Amino acid sequence: ETTAPVIFKGLAGVPVDYTAVSKVNPETNSLLYRGYPVQELAASCTFEEVAYLLWYGELPDDTQLAAFEDRERALRGLDHEVKRIIDELPLTAHPMDVVRTAVSVIGASDPATPDDSPEANLDKAIRLFAKLPSIVAYDQRRRHELEFVEPRDDLGYSANFLWQAFGEAPELEVVTAFDVSMILYAEHSFNASTFTARVITSTLSDLYSAVTGAIGALKGPLHGGANEAVMHTFDEIGAGPGGAERAVAWLDEALASKRKIMGFGHRVYKNGDSRVPTMRDSMERMVEHYDRPDLLELYVALEQAMGERKNIKPNLDYPAGPAYHLMGFDTLTFTPLFVASRITGWTAHIMEQAAANALIRPLSVYSGVDERHVPAKG
Ligand code: SDX
Repeated sequence: ETTAPVIFKGLAGVPVDYTAVSKVNPETNSLLYRGYPVQELAASCTFEEVAYLLWYGELPDDTQLAAFEDRERALRGLDHEVKRIIDELPLTAHPMDVVRTAVSVIGASDPATPDDSPEANLDKAIRLFAKLPSIVAYDQRRRHELEFVEPRDDLGYSANFLWQAFGEAPELEVVTAFDVSMILYAEHSFNASTFTARVITSTLSDLYSAVTGAIGALKGPLHGGANEAVMHTFDEIGAGPGGAERAVAWLDEALASKRKIMGFGHRVYKNGDSRVPTMRDSMERMVEHYDRPDLLELYVALEQAMGERKNIKPNLDYPAGPAYHLMGFDTLTFTPLFVASRITGWTAHIMEQAAANALIRPLSVYSGVDERHVPAKG
């Protein structure tokens, strides 16, 4: 008798390659980007510095940072062609589909797309990093029948992003909370979308194709789509007086009908997500800034009840959802914000994969009908 082959369903617990980009350690509940704890980066660095770190492996000095910022600021605009094609899409299109399409258009129009040298790939990565705020903000505004807001090169990444989204000079506290969210979302080892990007890269396809595929993977609610889904949960429960009691009743009913509670649980962290305390702190600052204690009450009640009933802890999407809501973003825009951040991690992994490539092609174990034969005709 032959022994049944072992299947690693969902590749759970299977190491598939080395990476020097980040280290997720569920035992110590820590996350390092190129060796630096993410909490330290969130407290002391801007998102531009973190992007530089993920790509170059080191934090920039002042001269390097100034040159990098100049390069990013010069690339922020959107070509007429990209805007025209976005305008062709129905207003009902999910913003993730719009972002995916816009990246595809940029790739199809870039003469350097087939050049897979490290320099050309870094150039493309910085190009997408600089343009994603324009794309995300443009689509949100278009759904409200508002004009595109041109980028401002006197503003840093996050301040400019908020400026382009809302057409108003943002307040410093909001900029800081937003920048922290960008830093926390930037990178997380071999998550599903990053792995998708690496699979595509492993066939020697181009960076834009890999990013387009990664956006598709991120869209799903078991992955990046969860930050949008968290807000739908909050809306279903309804913040305001009595929100905490409603949250508990809602949870009991959702669990009884075997629903997955969005923003909770994680494939790797079983004892809490390393990024949650930092993001929760930013979310609480927004609660104070916008004077919405009712939202925090709902947040706390749902988290506590989920802990008591299932012992499952929140992931980064849980505090990020309400934080983005308070900042004024449409719920549908939340996952595109994740894209704007994760473009840094994705492209760092694409370049790492390309530099030491092996085609990613696992095995399957056949479970269909036994061999059979087409009957002779006539
Ligand atoms: C991200 O991988 C990354 O690093 C991703 C990410 C990144 O930065 O790239 O961190 C970003 O994707 C965060 C995750 C966002 N997703 C959600 O919030 C969706 C809700 N969460 C779950 O569906 C779930 O926890 C996953 C998908 C995140 C992880 O799923 P696993 O590892 O496949 O685990 P599982 O679904 O098999 O759950 C194990 C048990 C099950 O119960 P039993 O069948 O054993 O009784 O825990 C239960 C699950 O039902 N469970 C949940 C739950 N999460 C786990 N039950 C209800 N609600 C949940 N959220």
